[in-house]
Parts: sequence; structure tokens; C-alpha cells
Amino acid sequence: MVNHTPTSVVTIERFIIEQERQHPEASGDLSNILYDLALAAKMITNKVRSAGLVDILGSAGHENVQGEIQQKLDVFANETIIKAMDHTGRLCGMASEEEDGIIPIPGQFRTGKYALLFDPLDGSSNIDVNVPVGTIFSVVPKITRGRDGTMEDMLQPGRRQVAAGYVIYGSSTMLVYTTGQGAHGFTLDPSIGEFLLSHPNIQIPATGRYLSVNDSYQQLWHENVRQLMRRYRGLEGDRKPMSIRYVGSLVADFHRNLLGGGLFAYPRNQKSPEGKLRLLYEANPLAFIVEQAGGRASTGTQRILDVQPTELHQRTPLYIGSREDVELAESLVA
Ligand code: AHG
Ligand code: MN
Ligand code: MN
Repeated sequence: MVNHTPTSVVTIERFIIEQERQHPEASGDLSNILYDLALAAKMITNKVRSAGLVDILGSAGHENVQGEIQQKLDVFANETIIKAMDHTGRLCGMASEEEDGIIPIPGQFRTGKYALLFDPLDGSSNIDVNVPVGTIFSVVPKITRGRDGTMEDMLQPGRRQVAAGYVIYGSSTMLVYTTGQGAHGFTLDPSIGEFLLSHPNIQIPATGRYLSVNDSYQQLWHENVRQLMRRYRGLEGDRKPMSIRYVGSLVADFHRNLLGGGLFAYPRNQKSPEGKLRLLYEANPLAFIVEQAGGRASTGTQRILDVQPTELHQRTPLYIGSREDVELAESLVA
């Protein structure tokens, strides 16, 4: 039988406005940053959706039928976000996984009181095989004086984030974000071009079924990590065995575990002694979201959000997901 109970349609714009109303002191700048990011996400979605056509329409670096030079998708995503954000007067600077240094706000524009850090396209090695990719972003307040954002503004511990989120370009496009009032998910309705509230107040189960880890590093892990993985898989100890799910796009692995429960782990290994994932563009924003959803994120020895960054592209070991599963990592990895 068809259920005719009417459900209310809430756009991301309305939702952001309503959350902002709970903070009468808010200037609206943060809300506008979020709208602008949602717009950039729609533009990137469009490009991702036609990625499979590049062989027909022209590949990266070649002219397509319209005479345009095709860009690699990660370059396109990077430039789309910069162009959507640099002229708005709300940012003092940006930092991107794709750029070496701080991305300044051009001289002709006003600057603002926030800094934006982002991974424009996460999982980019997966594009050619039609596996989900994503965008991850983090917003921190400007803490220095002067017009432009400095390293001091960029290198703040994750607990100072005022907003964070990700977009997953999957079977549908979803945007999940937090401003510290819960983690909320929106699904893009392509027919009207709007993100609609589909996952209000996401809560991650306390323990989960899925373990997302690249097992091929086994020989390079510390013995403690190998033991931890045996525990997750039920080969030692008494926990119910987890199932392995590893996409190779952090956003996709994280998203599955956030909704269904589980753990993503990228431990240190002999070849990557600092881990692989980036503290500022990947670990911090997802840690803010997972904590808002009742989960946990750790380096193994420290809460991710408490790590004091020392450089823009700093890497970190990462254990993120269901609270009890991350706690087990912390008890063994230390
Ligand atoms: P990016 O495409 O932004 O460089 O990130 C890739 C990351 C992350 O998405 C994924 O979880 C991880 O690399 C996979 O690394 P391994 O291939 O070493 O497992
Ligand atoms: Mn990435
Ligand atoms: Mn990337």
C-alpha cells in the first residue's frame, strides 16, 4: 500500500537559515559560506556526472568538441571552489590539498573573518572506474589581525572548526555538514537542482558491522595494529567479526560507516610512518562530523580534534567511526 503521509520538504537554504536563527548574534557569513559551497558542489556534480564521457568528448588536456580544453576533474573541482568562494568577502584565505601554500583572496575583493580548508576531490584515483568520489571542507575562524589569512589562522586544532562537511558524488549526490548543532545530510534532487534535507541529525551506532581498511599494508603495520585487526575480525577476543568494506575513497567509506556503523582505519605503516590522510583537509572535518553524530575520531593515541597542526599538508594516522570501535583501537594502538 502506498503511504500518503505528507513529509515536509526542507531545502538546505531554509535549514541553514533556521539553524542560524538560533544564534541571534550570527552575522550570516557562515551561512553564506555554506550556500556557496553547496553551489560549488552542484557545479562539481555536473562535471563528475559527465566524467565517463571524456573519451567521447575529449580527454584531459585535449580540446573537446566545443573547443574547450578539458581539465582533470581534481583541478576543475579545486578551481570551482576557489572561484565560488574568493570574491564573497567572507574568507580571509583558503588552503587546498591541491595547492602548496595559502590561497590568498585577490586584492580587488574584501576579505572576511573565516578561513576555508578543503580536499576538492577525494578518491580521485577512482574517477576512471565510476566509483564514488567526494569533496571535504573545513571552516575555521580567523584569529589573527590584518587583511589576509596567515599560517596561524590555517593551523588551528580541529576543535576550533565552526563548520565542516563533505559532499559525496555517489549514486546520488549528498552533502553532509555540521556547525556544531548535529550532523545533517541533504540529497541533491537533480530535477530541481536543490539539496533537500534527507538525513536530519545523523547518529552513528555505538559499534558497527563494517571495517574499512587497506589490508594490503598488513606486513608494514606494527604488531599492535595487526592484533587490533584480528580483534575486529573476531579472530581474537570476543567481538562479533566485522566485514571488510574498502572503496578507496575516504568519503565513500566514511559515509557508509556513518550511516550504518563501523570504522575506517588508516594506521601508520613502515612506508607511511605518519599515515596517509591529511589532518586539515580530511581528518579534522570528518572528525567534527563523526563526533556530532556520537562517534569518535583518533590518531590511536590522541583525539583528532585536539591535534595541534604544524604544517598545511600534515598527515595523520586515522581511526574514525563508531565510538566503541575507535576506543578499541585506542586501547591497543597506544
Ligand atoms: P585523494 O584522492 O584526495 O588523494 O585521497 C585518497 C585517499 C583516500 O580517499 C583513501 O581513503 C586513501 O587515499 C586510499 O589510500 P590507499 O590506496 O593507500 O588505501
Ligand atoms: Mn583525499
Ligand atoms: Mn584529493
